[in-house]
Amino acid sequence: MRLQGKTAIITGAAGGIGAAIAAAYVKEGARVAIADISHEAARQTATVLGPQAMAVHLDVTSATSRQATIEACLGTWGGIDILVNNAAIFDMGPVLEISEKSYDRVFAVNVKGLLFMLQDCARAMVTRGKGGKIINMASQAGRRGEPLVATYCASKAAVISITQSAGLALIKDRINVNGIAPGVVDTPMWAEVDALFAKYEHRPLGEKKRLVGEAVPYGRMGRPEDHVGAAVFLASPESDYVVAQTLNVDGGNWMS
Ligand SMILES: NC(=O)c1ccc[n+]([C@@H]2O[C@H](COP(=O)([O-])OP(=O)(O)OC[C@H]3O[C@@H](n4cnc5c(N)ncnc54)[C@H](O)[C@@H]3O)[C@@H](O)[C@H]2O)c1
Repeated sequence: MRLQGKTAIITGAAGGIGAAIAAAYVKEGARVAIADISHEAARQTATVLGPQAMAVHLDVTSATSRQATIEACLGTWGGIDILVNNAAIFDMGPVLEISEKSYDRVFAVNVKGLLFMLQDCARAMVTRGKGGKIINMASQAGRRGEPLVATYCASKAAVISITQSAGLALIKDRINVNGIAPGVVDTPMWAEVDALFAKYEHRPLGEKKRLVGEAVPYGRMGRPEDHVGAAVFLASPESDYVVAQTLNVDGGNWMS
């Protein structure tokens, strides 16, 4: 077991990619906080995973909520070894119609929430003096803009940039900060993405999802489980010499 005795906070782990990573971490011997704004769903996920998992109510946009989450984990475990900064939201629309409200919502969760969750956990890791692993969930959307997706793409480009800066800043404390950039993944988020593309590109529901899946070189959309190999590697000592990188896990969609 590659994460035996380790403790991990995974934000947005009630479902989708975060829940798959939580299940893999438990299997590898870690104790995991399923930290999500959707508390009932987080509770259900933690119950399925058993005694190594606990549900914590977290809104990454709230400093009070972030602090309470970290204190709950420190109180229960005595230290945090791993943070997976996975929570995010999606929105899209024509550039000429983007509202400040939509921009503020997306950046509050995807960028500000991620940066300050990283800061809060890194402070606890530095104080403890045992290093740590921080994994930021980026996206292929952060590698290149898309005409209808300016805000979300910009938020994920910011995640890649924060990963580079924090990775360089924190490695002296033996905290590895790296990222994962998924491509198109069949999760609850993609139901929302498909419905918005249907609206703005005047398509039937489900068509966009089918087309993006067919276009992946691997031959299908990603599944949440496709990301757990990278997430376990980046949380384990095997990745100690990997610093400030964002790893594409996307079936061949993007090369960088
Ligand atoms: N699904 C994809 O195609 C895809 C592609 C590339 C990158 N990603 C990224 O992977 C990550 C996981 O995506 P997913 O598809 O599993 O998403 P999802 O929508 O299925 O899950 C996101 C989780 O985040 C939680 N969340 C939302 N706002 C929160 C907040 N303020 N505080 C705490 N939790 C909050 C939600 O309750 C939900 O459980 C995200 O960072 C996403 O941007 C997804």
